[in-house]
Amino acid sequence: MKNLSYLLFGLCLIDKSNLDFSLFTFHFSLKTSSLFTLFPYLCTNFQHKDMKEIVLSGIRPTGNLHLGNYYGAVQNFVKMQEDYNCYYFIADWHSLTTHPKPEDIQQSARTILAEYLACGIDPEKSTIYIQSDVPETIELYLYLNMNCYLGELERVTTFKEKARKQPNNVNAGLLTYPTLMAADILQHRAAKVPVGKDQEQNMEMARKCARRFNNIYGVEFFPEPQNFYFGDHAIKIPGLDGSGKMGKSEGNCIYLYEDAKSIEKKVKRAVTDSGPTEPNQEKPEVIQNLFTLMEIASSKETYDYFNEKWNDMSIRYGDMKKQLAEDIVKTLTPIRERILEYKSNQELLDKVAKMGAEKARESSAATLREVRKIIGFKVY
Ligand code: TRP
Repeated sequence: MKNLSYLLFGLCLIDKSNLDFSLFTFHFSLKTSSLFTLFPYLCTNFQHKDMKEIVLSGIRPTGNLHLGNYYGAVQNFVKMQEDYNCYYFIADWHSLTTHPKPEDIQQSARTILAEYLACGIDPEKSTIYIQSDVPETIELYLYLNMNCYLGELERVTTFKEKARKQPNNVNAGLLTYPTLMAADILQHRAAKVPVGKDQEQNMEMARKCARRFNNIYGVEFFPEPQNFYFGDHAIKIPGLDGSGKMGKSEGNCIYLYEDAKSIEKKVKRAVTDSGPTEPNQEKPEVIQNLFTLMEIASSKETYDYFNEKWNDMSIRYGDMKKQLAEDIVKTLTPIRERILEYKSNQELLDKVAKMGAEKARESSAATLREVRKIIGFKVY
């Protein structure tokens, strides 16, 4: 019985993310066989109460965050902080495939960091870090690369696209982009990865990496990470140029740092048509896009009001755009103010990055210790 109370006490002290490894050690220090029988029960009970699922997502620092990133991803990252153990990181190594200038590297990462914080990602609740601050990732990347095959990496659509776009720079980093992404995810043994539809193939590779490692070494070590969509499908935020998706191309996109004037100007210029020609007509794509934006950015009453106007053919796009711009400005003004504040406080950004790096390294190092053991290396 004394043993059991030590055990329970020990379990309470264990850091959540390291639970599995610590249980492993405990397992061998136990002498009484009856305690072995109790183990599964203790483990599941403990997990139910205290263990939050691990969520991880990353973004490449190749520009500023825009409304598409906000409504499609970051807003949900903020919500997830309450219920999950979240890791959000800035994938600066991934951006090396296009050889950014050395003087831009740190600034680009700091920009996204400031924008993440301004959106409400809280460094006390989540682990926010910069990829290149966690060297453990590369060690896992190396191990995983040993189990990935040229053929399957070459078949990844994003690789094929990039190879087409930069035919003079089809480097091995581009080819092994999915393995680095798998290392990002598996180093924290994340269960859920909130990403867009365009990342599905990369996620499939991450699952393959997990599965293969487990199979090769006969272990159940890496969980297979699942894509996580908010709601029942991946949301796509339309662009302002009539195109299906808000991206970084000029004229299509509203950045979170933009002021009211520039937002109004952009929304005013959004592509429309000459108006409905019969009542209750189906909306052509460019108009549907405007309505989709309104559905996301405005209240339901506002949306219904303009929808009715469309249906009875009295709609004036100018009025609709004015309202839409106003509602976007309302959402973005406080975010913009916080972005400016954070960006002018490099000291704070450095502190947040350092804190995030420490937490991420701790989790990553724990995984790597086990991985080394499993592969057969010495662990010090
Ligand atoms: N490939 C992702 C993108 O381009 C960025 C990314 C890198 C990522 N590593 C990741 C996303 C790990 C989720 C998990 O959007």
